[in-house]
Amino acid sequence: MVDTATARPQAEAARRGAQIEVRNVSHWFKVPSGVLQVLDGVDLQVAPGEFVALLGPSGCGKSTLLRLVAGLEPATAGEITQDGEPITRPDPSRIVVFQDPTLYPWRTVRDNVALGPQAQGRLKERKARVDDALRLVGLTEFAQAFPHQLSGGMAQRVALARALVNDPQLLVLDEPLGKLDSLTRLQMQSELVSLWQREGFSALLVTHDVEEALFLAQRVIVFSDRPARIAAELKVDLPYPRHRGDPRLTELRHQALRHLGLDASW
Ligand SMILES: Nc1ncnc2c1ncn2[C@@H]1O[C@H](COP(=O)(O)OP(=O)(O)OP(=O)(O)O)[C@@H](O)[C@H]1O
Ligand SMILES: [Mg+2]
Repeated sequence: MVDTATARPQAEAARRGAQIEVRNVSHWFKVPSGVLQVLDGVDLQVAPGEFVALLGPSGCGKSTLLRLVAGLEPATAGEITQDGEPITRPDPSRIVVFQDPTLYPWRTVRDNVALGPQAQGRLKERKARVDDALRLVGLTEFAQAFPHQLSGGMAQRVALARALVNDPQLLVLDEPLGKLDSLTRLQMQSELVSLWQREGFSALLVTHDVEEALFLAQRVIVFSDRPARIAAELKVDLPYPRHRGDPRLTELRHQALRHLGLDASW
């Protein structure tokens, strides 16, 4: 589905990825009963062009960490930098894709994808990139369709194209495939790998799906219960494309489940 025929030269793609450093980050929220500590001394690096996945119990603080990295709010303590510069606000070089594609129902697929360039007043000069992004996610023929005419997987592809059109240096993915049926999900995982390889962005993915994390990422970070601390880090030392039946993936899956406190008896 993903078009790799128009692949960029690898050197150009490799230059694209942001280097992210999360240094000793802790975070608290004010809640009616006082304060709620959500992150506790998190240290995390994403190398340029690296794909890192985050796993952890529900409510431990994963989405909060993504919001801090995206610059949507400041960390209570610690520092987060992109290529050495502190992250203080949202920036088009870092794009977040959520579980819900949140498309504008009154805009066509193409106009949804073109939102970023349009907001920046660069629609004309970015027209080719909009076409390119639609082609990349296999939706050229649906450019004039409206969101209600799409399947869930197609809508999520529009959300990905809308992110790619901005040429992000970091793609922040918060359970982006979480609402898809399992077959579409497997297909979209492979497509995400192709897009990442072609585009060269760095990726930070939160997922509840251990297999998905191991299939996609070069490193998988496992968090503890809230307040989230890094409980383990697994290096996924397998080339792409990966084979789901690879015995090494099964081994790593057992390790990940163990770190999540689940007996790997299944
Ligand atoms: N703006 C906020 N104000 C107060 N508490 C918040 C706020 N945002 C998140 N929290 C709390 O912080 C904790 C962590 O939330 P977060 O969304 O980061 O978890 P998560 O790891 O992404 O969970 P899930 O896997 O279920 O998505 C939760 O207890 C949540 O209630
Ligand atoms: Mg979350």
